[in-house]
Amino acid sequence: MQNLNVGLIGGGFMGKAHSLAYAAMPMFFWPAPAMPVRKVIAEATDELAAQAASRFGFEKSTSDWRSIIDDPDIHVVDIATPNHLHAEIAIAAAEAGKHIICEKPLARTGEESKAMYDAVKNTDIVHMVAFNYRRTPAVALAKKYIDEGAIGRVISFRGTYLQDWSADANSPLSWRFQKSIAGSGALGDIGTHVIDMARYLVGEFTSVNSVMSTWIPERPLQSGSADSLGNVSGGEGPRGAVDVDDEVLTMVKFANGAIGSIEATRNAYGRNNFLTFEIHGTEGSIVFNYERRDELQVCFASDPGDRRGFRTVYTGPAHPYGEGLWPIPALGIGYGETKIIEAYDFFKAIAEGGSVSPNFADGYQIALIDDAIIESAESGAWVDVPRIDA
Ligand SMILES: NC(=O)c1ccc[n+]([C@@H]2O[C@H](COP(=O)([O-])OP(=O)(O)OC[C@H]3O[C@@H](n4cnc5c(N)ncnc54)[C@H](O)[C@@H]3O)[C@@H](O)[C@H]2O)c1
Repeated sequence: MQNLNVGLIGGGFMGKAHSLAYAAMPMFFWPAPAMPVRKVIAEATDELAAQAASRFGFEKSTSDWRSIIDDPDIHVVDIATPNHLHAEIAIAAAEAGKHIICEKPLARTGEESKAMYDAVKNTDIVHMVAFNYRRTPAVALAKKYIDEGAIGRVISFRGTYLQDWSADANSPLSWRFQKSIAGSGALGDIGTHVIDMARYLVGEFTSVNSVMSTWIPERPLQSGSADSLGNVSGGEGPRGAVDVDDEVLTMVKFANGAIGSIEATRNAYGRNNFLTFEIHGTEGSIVFNYERRDELQVCFASDPGDRRGFRTVYTGPAHPYGEGLWPIPALGIGYGETKIIEAYDFFKAIAEGGSVSPNFADGYQIALIDDAIIESAESGAWVDVPRIDA
């Protein structure tokens, strides 16, 4: 079995999730497609990098991410930094021939995402963008039902991603509220996960009609580079401007004729990780809520009228990725498992010389959808979504 050396850049929330996935992937999926070796981790300072290496089990640490790109022993570059660094790191990694997994959104804009896609598109590099929620077994099961025609032709999709960690106007002005770093707000941060699911389950978008708003226009300045996701109050100190959206709501037309809506906010008190979809087809419906992620609700029109209604399927060994996960349905899938599955599919593609989805082409197409949503919110009109040539 092949060892693949990983250089991970960014040791915050996602650095933790990816490190866990590299350690645990072979424990879940055995034989593993390849063994991830946690070789080197980069952070913003030497001290942060050394701490991250001890905590996340990396052999070495650095405060210079370029040394990872220049290291011939590194096979995989993992980008888990804030969004403004994704393009520069990914393009350098592609030029050095490394396989790349990059956190979502792929970059701040369609233009930056295109440059990243162009850097990998005619190469043998395996590239992936980390929209992990589609790898929740219940979501993969929904895809299976749709592909098998269990709910007939899909006619509508309603998706939400609602959180409340920034609802407090005193939560700090982290990088997630700064356009120069994040690109956009709720749209790029969490709306893109719903867009990824909508493309995965329904298909390509043709046009959007959107509204966006920024409810809290300034927040207390934050020191340090990591985002505390609103858990630490920024207090009463100096404040800075929020120049991204707090909330986005868009209508969608899909290429296959289906219609839909997508809503994302981080200011919805009482909603924590309310990532949901409801899909209606000509022969049934499917409902998913990440806060109850072991469950998929399905309703089939073919059931006798006196029994028709939603039934709950608890995911387990019979379902997608079940062979590697837990031996009893409803034991409990967590966020970590979605990242473990993501690592499994990524390393499998490298080991087999294949490709994986969602990749940089998907990330670029989603960035074009984001750009169209922003344009529509500014103009108030329907905006066509360009399709990339992938
Ligand atoms: N897939 C998901 O569910 C998910 C969830 C959260 C975040 N994300 C994405 O992951 C990425 C990181 O988000 P996060 O929540 O981990 O952020 P974070 O703020 O918790 O961590 C980012 C880390 O990058 C470090 N960093 C900054 N500049 C650096 C540099 N030059 N070199 C090395 N390290 C540097 C920071 O010090 C920080 O520790 C973002 O693109 C975000 O959108 C994805």
